[in-house]
Amino acid sequence: MKSINVKTSHPYEVIIERGSISKCGEYISKITSSRKAVVITDDIVGGLYGDTVLSSLKNSGFECTMFAFHNGEQSKCLSVFGEITDYLCKAGITRSDIIIALGGGVVGDITGFAAATYLRGVDFVQIPTTLLSQVDSSVGGKTAIDITGGKNLVGAFKQPALVICDSDTLKSLPAETLADGMAEVIKYGMIKNGSFFELLESHDLDSVDEIMDEIVYTCVDIKREVVEHDEFDRGERMILNFGHTLGHALEAWHNYTDYTHGMGVAAGMCMITDRLAPADISERLRKCVESYRLPTGTDIPMKELLPFCSKDKKREYGEISYIVCKTIGKADIVKVAVEEFSRLMEG
Ligand SMILES: NC(=O)c1ccc[n+]([C@@H]2O[C@H](COP(=O)([O-])OP(=O)(O)OC[C@H]3O[C@@H](n4cnc5c(N)ncnc54)[C@H](O)[C@@H]3O)[C@@H](O)[C@H]2O)c1
Ligand SMILES: [Zn+2]
Repeated sequence: MKSINVKTSHPYEVIIERGSISKCGEYISKITSSRKAVVITDDIVGGLYGDTVLSSLKNSGFECTMFAFHNGEQSKCLSVFGEITDYLCKAGITRSDIIIALGGGVVGDITGFAAATYLRGVDFVQIPTTLLSQVDSSVGGKTAIDITGGKNLVGAFKQPALVICDSDTLKSLPAETLADGMAEVIKYGMIKNGSFFELLESHDLDSVDEIMDEIVYTCVDIKREVVEHDEFDRGERMILNFGHTLGHALEAWHNYTDYTHGMGVAAGMCMITDRLAPADISERLRKCVESYRLPTGTDIPMKELLPFCSKDKKREYGEISYIVCKTIGKADIVKVAVEEFSRLMEG
């Protein structure tokens, strides 16, 4: 078992261990004196791992029930949020009990937001089951739901009380969902760790399970470092957005259908690197991205994408921040006028 301590305003441990999902009751009983819990999940993950989690909790003396909503981003909304909080209320959850998010980033984000707001805050545990949620969304304390005006526009900072990453659960993921998470993994190598990037270069989507625990550990540790320096997203945390300005634009251009976040991030990283970094760096990134079956660019004309970039949340007062890696393992945050960014990308 490997573990990482995240020293934010509410410190917590991230456990990285194959098979840990079946021991979750043991781990959770160490961080709470309550023996009452509710598990929130989606229908797919609930069907795959719900029983394992519930029986482990029961074996550790927890009284617990599970609420499952329909899987997918469209559930990260106000009405499902309402259903979750009603369920917590009916289950008699008090401020000293515990809420468990079992699933990918959608489950983690909406459950975290419910935990942040129900009774003005109840402790919650993340059991992330997608690669993206293990290496990214379960750590760092950002929780949110989507509203008509946009994604993640209503949310709160709420650190989990514990995160349990079981990389064996990733074996049931469709290849495309695994690839999706690999975009964020490659991002971590690019922004912070050259030798980790080399490890990724020496594998591909079919062989990546061999190094999965190392991947999760390294990425969580990078996220820990960044989040500890900038818990409330005021500056340094922005380097985690490498590839995301164009990535978000690509996702939005496709109306958030048939084009995943990871595809956007992968293409976004390649496009900015092609323009601003030495050719050998951009070539290595492209090869790596291809070996995890992710796109390295787009046919959509830049003119059509740019309007979506300037709607980005990272834009302020006519300026836009983008991240560039001129060498592998080091990122810079560059702030320019929106027009300057457009010229750069169109050129
Ligand atoms: N809070 C943050 O810091 C943060 C960071 C990045 C992304 N996010 C959010 O995360 C969300 C995306 O998360 P995601 O990519 O995990 O998507 P997701 O939660 O929708 O999961 C993707 C699909 O995989 C299924 N699934 C999950 N685990 C599985 C498993 N082990 N086996 C088989 N199927 C499984 C789910 O049911 C779902 O259909 C977005 O809403 C995004 O905004 C949040
Ligand atoms: Zn991302």
